[in-house]
Order: sequence, then structure tokens, then C-alpha cells
Amino acid sequence: MFAVPPELIDTLHAHDPVMLREVLSLAAIPAGAIVIDGTFGRGGYARALLRAQPDCRYIAFDRDPVAVDYGKALMAALPGLEVHHAAFSDMKQVTRELGQASVDLIVLDLGVSSPQIDEAERGFSFGKDGPLDMRMDPSRGPSAADIVNAMDEGDLADVIYKYGEERRSRAVARAIVGARAESRIETTGQLADIVRSVVRRAKDGIDPATRTFQALRIHVNDELGELERGLEAAERLLSTEGRLIVVSFHSLEDRIVKTFLRARSEQHQRDGRRLPWEAEAAPAREQSFTLLTRKPMEAQSDECRANPRARSAKLRAASRTAAPAWSDPDLSASAAPGPTTAEQGSTRP
Ligand SMILES: C[S@@+](CC[C@H](N)C(=O)[O-])C[C@H]1O[C@@H](n2cnc3c(N)ncnc32)[C@H](O)[C@@H]1O
Repeated sequence: MFAVPPELIDTLHAHDPVMLREVLSLAAIPAGAIVIDGTFGRGGYARALLRAQPDCRYIAFDRDPVAVDYGKALMAALPGLEVHHAAFSDMKQVTRELGQASVDLIVLDLGVSSPQIDEAERGFSFGKDGPLDMRMDPSRGPSAADIVNAMDEGDLADVIYKYGEERRSRAVARAIVGARAESRIETTGQLADIVRSVVRRAKDGIDPATRTFQALRIHVNDELGELERGLEAAERLLSTEGRLIVVSFHSLEDRIVKTFLRARSEQHQRDGRRLPWEAEAAPAREQSFTLLTRKPMEAQSDECRANPRARSAKLRAASRTAAPAWSDPDLSASAAPGPTTAEQGSTRP
């Protein structure tokens, strides 16, 4: 492996890439391929994929400026790598601005990286006290502190229930509103103590604050909206036979990926069950993906032992067909798509 600048290793810590073996075997990048890595992080996938296939254009995005700085420092050592500060939901627009109409592989490794969690200043973790921030891109949008100090109690409870699956969400929201009436909630430690005051530790030993922190992180970063828009952008950017690989870490994310890929890969079966007049009312859409994983792949036991974060990982992958993208706004819902569109790029080299 090439050398990472030592000053970056010292200050920014490492991230163990999850399910790297599986990603490598599914990626199968041909020479000359164009790759998008929507979640660069610390470049674990980038290094391995570029080592397996140095002859490719590897376009990486991250919305965390610290990750982007790290990536830019790697670019000299890794010809082919380019790192851009952008959300992956914008991948289509940014990639086109970079002169690339279609790509051969898109990988998304969702969530936060170990350095983000480990750095108390980022405010993702209650393990170490720090400012309650949680923004992957600290230059944009309200922080977690802004939200817990301003959001209406009912909305707060809904966020905590929906994204954290916290059954005591109403009690947590009430406790937050009570605490903020006394003084502004500024730190991860304060928020964790407020949650612990109303939610008991479960038998599994998981800290009661875990679910509320997950909920706020998802809300602050609009993670599920990003994922939905990112999948649609991926569908429109991938060339025929291009591959999409998504690694997710909780059921809310995996459900979105599963639903998206299932709908776009099972069209023929559903058409078969349609009655003739139904087919006319709702014209068939062609399959835009073929599944490469019918069930999600999970990390092998040796990886789970070495890296506990891998235990919750689910990997889904699919290959793009030649059919037009379902999410193409130029295709009205009532118009049967034609065989080719401007959105449909070249065939995989
Ligand atoms: C799990 S880490 C990726 C680790 C990477 N695969 C590696 O091996 O080093 C997720 C990274 O994606 C970034 N990220 C998460 N959501 C994003 C989004 N919507 N757009 C761009 N970057 C995002 C985070 O800032 C974080 O750096």
C-alpha cells in the first residue's frame, strides 16, 4: 500500500473499510472505467479499488470537508483519484460538469466514518463530551443543538420515533423541552444525560441515548432523503451493465435500497400478473436494474470480530440494464419509455 501522509494519520485516525472483500469482488472494474465513490471517507475503498484497477477515473465525493482534505492529500499518490466536496445526491450534476455523461460503477458506503465518531468536536458521539453538532458538512444547515433547542415538542418526538425507533420518544422530547427551558442544550453529554433521565438502560446494555443520537444524526444530515436522491441519480448516471453497490448500516437505509432495487428489477413479474386493461392504464416500465444480490450480503464472521461496525452492514448490488431510468423527469408517468434517451449513457467498457 502507498504511504498516507503521516501528519494526516496522526490527526485524523483511520477508518476500517467495511465489507471491502465483497465490494472488490462485485466491482470487477474493467480498464478505462469511470467510477464514482459517493462516500470517500478515508479512502479505504478508493485505495483498494485503484490498486485492483489503476487504469480508471475514480471520482470521489464527500460532504465532510475534513474527508475531502484528506482525499486531496492522497491524490498525488493515487493517479486516477479525484476528490470533490459534494453530497452524493448531486453526483449527476457534478459528474456531468466534470465532463462525464455516464459511469461504470457507483459505490455508496453510508453513514459516518470512524474519525467522525471519534472526534468529540464533531458532536456525533456521547462517548466523549463535545459540542452538539452532528453535521457531516459543518458549513451547512442547522446543527443538532439548533434543532433540539428550537424544534416543536411534537416534531421532536416524531423525529426521535421515526429515525431512532425510540419507543419513549414522547418522554424524551418532553424532557428535552423541559431542560432547554432552564438553559440551552449545547453538548453531547447534556443531551445524553437528558435522555438517560427518562429511558432506562435495556438488558442488552446499549446506552439509552443511542437511538436518540441516531435519530438526530439522520435528521440533521437528511440521510434518508440523500439516499433516495442518490439512488435516483445513480440510476440516471450508470451505463448499461454499470454496477451499483450500496452498503448500509441500519434498517431504515436498507429498506430504501431494497425497495428501490426491487421495484426496478421485478417489472417483468409484475407485468405478468397484470390484467390487460390495467396494462393500458399504467404502462409497463422496463427493468432498469438486474439484481446481483437477491438477499443482502453481510460481513463474514472474521470481519465482524475484527470490526464491530461491520456487524450491522448490509450490502446490496445491482447491474444497470439498457432501459431508461425510471427517475428521469423527462419521462412522464403516463408515457411508455422509448428504447434510448439522452440520460442513457454508453455501454460499460
Ligand atoms: C462510512 S464512511 C465511508 C468510508 C469509506 N468507504 C472508506 O473506506 O474510507 C461514510 C462517509 O461518507 C460521507 N457521506 C455520508 N453521506 C454523504 C452524502 N450524502 N454525500 C457525500 N458524502 C457523504 C461521510 O461524511 C463519511 O465520510
